[in-house]
Amino acid sequence: TPIRREDYRPPDWLVPAISLDFDLDPARTVVRARLEVTRNGAHDRPLVLDGAGQQPLAVRVDGREVNDWRQQDGGLVVPLAGEAHVIETEVEIAPETNTQLMGLYASGGLLCTQCEAEGFRRITFFPDRPDVLATYTVRMTADRETFPVLLANGNRTGAGLLDDGRHWAEWHDPFPKPCYLFALVAGDLQANVGGFTTMSGRQVELAIWVREADLPKTEHAMSALKAAMAWDEQTYGREYDLDLFNIVAVADFNFGAMENKSLNIFNSRYVLADPDTATDADYDAIAAVVAHEYFHNWSGNRVTCRDWFQLSLKEGFTVFRDQGFSADQGSPAVKRIEDVRSLRASQFPEDAGPLAHPIRPESYLEISNFYTATIYNKGAEVIRMMATILGPRSFRAGADHYFMRHDGEAATCEDFVRAMEFGAGVDLSQFRLWYSQAGTPRVAARLTADPGGGRATLNLAQSIPSTPGQPDKQPMVIPLRLRLFAWGSGAAIGEEQLVLLDTPEKTIVFEGVGERPVLSINRGFSAPVIVEADRTAADLAFLSRHDDDPFARYEAMQQLMLDTLIERVSTGEADHGPVVAAVADTLADPALDRAFVGEAVLLPSESFIGDGMLVVDPEAIHAAREALRRDLGRKLESEWRAALADGADAPFALTPEAKGRRRLRGIALGYVAASEAKDGGAIAFRQFERADNMTDRMAGLVTLVNLAADEREAALDIFYNRYSDDALVIDKWFSAQALATRDGTLDEVIALAKHRDFTLANPNRARALIGAFGVNQRIFHAASGRGYAFYADQLLALDRLNPQTAAKLLPPLGRWRRFDEDRAALMRDQLRRIVDTPGVSKDLFEQASKSLE
Ligand code: ARG
Ligand code: ZN
Repeated sequence: TPIRREDYRPPDWLVPAISLDFDLDPARTVVRARLEVTRNGAHDRPLVLDGAGQQPLAVRVDGREVNDWRQQDGGLVVPLAGEAHVIETEVEIAPETNTQLMGLYASGGLLCTQCEAEGFRRITFFPDRPDVLATYTVRMTADRETFPVLLANGNRTGAGLLDDGRHWAEWHDPFPKPCYLFALVAGDLQANVGGFTTMSGRQVELAIWVREADLPKTEHAMSALKAAMAWDEQTYGREYDLDLFNIVAVADFNFGAMENKSLNIFNSRYVLADPDTATDADYDAIAAVVAHEYFHNWSGNRVTCRDWFQLSLKEGFTVFRDQGFSADQGSPAVKRIEDVRSLRASQFPEDAGPLAHPIRPESYLEISNFYTATIYNKGAEVIRMMATILGPRSFRAGADHYFMRHDGEAATCEDFVRAMEFGAGVDLSQFRLWYSQAGTPRVAARLTADPGGGRATLNLAQSIPSTPGQPDKQPMVIPLRLRLFAWGSGAAIGEEQLVLLDTPEKTIVFEGVGERPVLSINRGFSAPVIVEADRTAADLAFLSRHDDDPFARYEAMQQLMLDTLIERVSTGEADHGPVVAAVADTLADPALDRAFVGEAVLLPSESFIGDGMLVVDPEAIHAAREALRRDLGRKLESEWRAALADGADAPFALTPEAKGRRRLRGIALGYVAASEAKDGGAIAFRQFERADNMTDRMAGLVTLVNLAADEREAALDIFYNRYSDDALVIDKWFSAQALATRDGTLDEVIALAKHRDFTLANPNRARALIGAFGVNQRIFHAASGRGYAFYADQLLALDRLNPQTAAKLLPPLGRWRRFDEDRAALMRDQLRRIVDTPGVSKDLFEQASKSLE
């Protein structure tokens, strides 16, 4: 039975304080908990503690052993007579058999925890809900040699040796927190230690804990952490609040990282980097995730969520904050382009499919399934729209008010919007629909000009598609930044405007339009909508040269490419001329930074082309895209070769300029190979071999995996042998092969699942092969259906180990409505097989059954 938002009730019992005592051992850990509980309001209901998998070895109330408790759904029900009691429980758990990686588990010789969303109940009996805030005192005892380092939240208050080869440490966290923010780590770790002085003069010790051999790879994360701390002070006035901030890297982790109070635990892929093993994209992702988790200290920890329906309160806002940080660290335009690309790649399909949900969902079976692109990325877009509508000063005033008003509380999305209204003095009543309505709005835009009369009229109309459970929609508030440009001169006509489209239709009249105007709309991607503007290829090519908003300029190029590709898919031919000319001019424009040029000349992905079609035809899309790539490669061959040479001999640097050149070089290499030049394979191989950094080397490898040549096998072998003991790099080796689009890839992926280095037990490895395969449109959707069957086999096998990670991979199989009848039937067969599998987890069941509906 689903949990529903409208059923929220405050907790019956509060737990102001808890002490935990861990006797740590991978095979058998004893957890003793001492909870101070107080009755919340007048009622006679018993104390209900959540639990999962553990047996109570003892239960004491106020110091006396009792037996009137009972077990219910894995939890514990204890009748209590008074207003305040002390409850003590003792349980035994086995971290080393915890393959779900929720609760306390073992990873590479460490013991660590992951509690969000509902992992704490797998450690001890407790009201596992975010609106129960307690102060934590944690004592750990463990073998000294295996686990020399013992960490928990807050500050270390004591430590000592025991005479049996064991030692202990005690930690205390003065800030009341929900149990999902609890963490402990025990292991043989070394720290890269740094320091930061906050704006009010607090000296904070920063420590990044890793295996000794990985210490040299922690510098980038450390400098990102310091930069994030400074940024949050400058941008939001938010200061760190303890004397210690720890980050620990672990190899087995279900997602990116976790913001546990003062003890962030990270997937090692978002900590470890050096030029030989990490790409520029990895470096950027590390900085973004380090910042994201740090920013949660305020947006998530100091102000937390009342219940899990409010998840976007902390995640949407924190993604918005980390996006702002990354924008300020590098190029805001390129960052915006990257963020919109990933929104379109992951969130738009979600919003258009069977798993569509509003950023504040109404119900769920398994909360883990709602850590989605919608909650995170669309959630961030909704905050961004508020910032756009309010303007920077008012938005900051609203944020200040939110943090002040709700510090120490478990808040709701409604609290956030109200704080914005109060702080900024605006009315966001209608805007709230963004929290409750799912689906990506569409905006039709038609510009009619009467240059003789000096005016132009813009007609806007919005529509919101129906989504599961929401057949009818109200008109939303859609903030659209727009501007007109004069066709002849390329000059802007008037200033940029911010139009709030808050009715089904709206007409805007522009005066002083002397020349034929061209419309630039949704500039900076001011709203997460699909704009259907009637603009010709010539208009788009014009904007790709003249628009002064870099995002809009990129967007015009993408739209031009997309229109051309879709035309070719549907008619079998298309004029590539306008795209080739626009790409040539972009490459030749010296005023543009190379990273931007790289983004602008990249063709839309095969999946994104599919999203623009009524029925996705994977083969035709692949063929059309390859044809355009070949044409671009041939017609601009000398330009690509010049881009390839640009900076190729410069020593490695991580400056924005150097990164931009590497990005463009990688793309240029792809085009040279696509041109089918005789030396394409040799050039890619040379780059692969001679590279002094992973970005260039990977660019060589991903080009080579699509060439049938001998170089392909050679490169894969060299790469594998060189990095065979570096798991994060071997993940790249699996992914590169799973993302190849050439014939034969399907068989190779199936064979790779039997490779000795492949395991479903490590989520990064599972995602590297199976996850990458699932988004490889041409190969996954092979007409035979073998891809679907293989995928379902892997998901079911993974589900037995790690339901959360399995369920996360389901969506590609659920998109059957977008494909032809034969494929749709084959996909549904696999979904039914999953739903009908005895013992399937509720995680995977929820995703598969909703996808069939
Ligand atoms: N709060 C973490 C973050 O975004 C992610 C936790 C994911 N939890 C989950 N059950 N999927 O920083
Ligand atoms: Zn987060």
